[in-house]
Amino acid sequence: MVAAWITALPRSPRVLRRTALGALLGAASGLARAAKPAVLLRFSHVVAPDTPKGQMALRFQALVHERAGGRIRVEVFPDSQLWGDDDEMEALRLGAVEMLAPSLSKFGNAGVPEFEVFDLPYLFADLAQVQRVTQGAVGRGLLQRLGRQQMLGLGFLDNGFKQMSATRPLRTPADFSGLRVRVQASRVLAAQMRALGARPVVLPFGETQRALASGVVDAAENPLSNFLTQGLAPWQPHLTLTQHGYLGYAVVSNPRFWASLAPTDRALLDSALADALAHGNRLAAALDQQALATLRRTPGVMLHQPAAAERAVLRRAVQPAWDGLRRSLGPGLLDDVQNALITG
Ligand code: LMR
Repeated sequence: MVAAWITALPRSPRVLRRTALGALLGAASGLARAAKPAVLLRFSHVVAPDTPKGQMALRFQALVHERAGGRIRVEVFPDSQLWGDDDEMEALRLGAVEMLAPSLSKFGNAGVPEFEVFDLPYLFADLAQVQRVTQGAVGRGLLQRLGRQQMLGLGFLDNGFKQMSATRPLRTPADFSGLRVRVQASRVLAAQMRALGARPVVLPFGETQRALASGVVDAAENPLSNFLTQGLAPWQPHLTLTQHGYLGYAVVSNPRFWASLAPTDRALLDSALADALAHGNRLAAALDQQALATLRRTPGVMLHQPAAAERAVLRRAVQPAWDGLRRSLGPGLLDDVQNALITG
C-alpha cells in the first residue's frame, strides 16, 4: 500500500517526494512496530524495477527474506524515490541508507578516479570481456579502493552497452556537432563528448527525461533497458546503436553498518548478494535484447545501425578521452585492464 502511494508521487521535486516518503514510512513503521526485524537494510537505486539493477535488488530482497526468517528486512527503493544519484553516496556515508549500486561512472567524482577506466569508449567488445575484468584480480582491487571513501565494495553487476539517442541519427562526428548531451559526472564521458564535437551536460539520471522533454539537452547515452524504462523514446526518436561504452554497477554498503552485523547475518547477506548478482549478471544481456525487441516494435522509434567504417571513424574520434585518462591515472591500471581482457 505504502509502496503504491510512493510510486504514484510526482517525480519532482525530489524534496517533496522525500518528505512524503518520510511521513508514509513513519506511519508504516508504527503499524509494523510489533514485528520489528533485528536488522533493517534500505537498498536505494535510481532505475526502474524492470532493469538488471532493479531485478537484482528484488532478488536480493527475496533471498534475504526467505533465508533470514524475519530477522532481517530489506526495503528496496527504486526510481530515485529515496535518494538520487547526485546524493546517494553521501546518504550512505551518513547512514541514511545501507546499500546502493551506483553506476561505475559515479565513483570517479566520489574520489575513486580509477573507476573511470570503465567509461573508456570502445574498451570492451562484449560482456564476457567486462567480466574478465570485474570478476578477477583487477575487479577485486578496485572494490578495495572504495574503502578510501568510506564505502565497502561488495560486487559488480552488468547492465550493458550504451547507445546514443537524439532527434537525429548520430553516425558520424559531424552529427554530434554542437549537441548538448546529458552525461553522468565522469571526466572520461565529458572528454568523449567533447572529442565528438558535442557539449557534455552533467545531470542526475532522474532529471534526464525532463531535461530532454524541455530541450535543456538534445541527446543522451543509455543502455537500452534504461532508455526504454525511462520513457525517453517520445523525446529521442532516433536511436543509433553505437554500442560505444559500457554501463555497469558496484554494489556498496557502509562499512560501519556491515561491521555492526552479527557474523551469521553478514554471511547470510554476503551469500544472498552473491546469488542475486549472479542472477542479475545472467539477466543483463536478456533484458537488453528484450528492450531492443520492444523498441523495434515501438511506433515512432527509428533504429540506426552504424556501418563498420562509421564505427571506426567514431572510435578514432574519441581517442582524446583515452589520452586524458592515461595522463591522469598513469598507464598502470589501463595496462592491467587490457591484460585482463586478453588473459582473463
Ligand atoms: C545513469 O546515470 O545514466 C545511470 O547510472 C543510471 C543507472 O544507474 O543505470
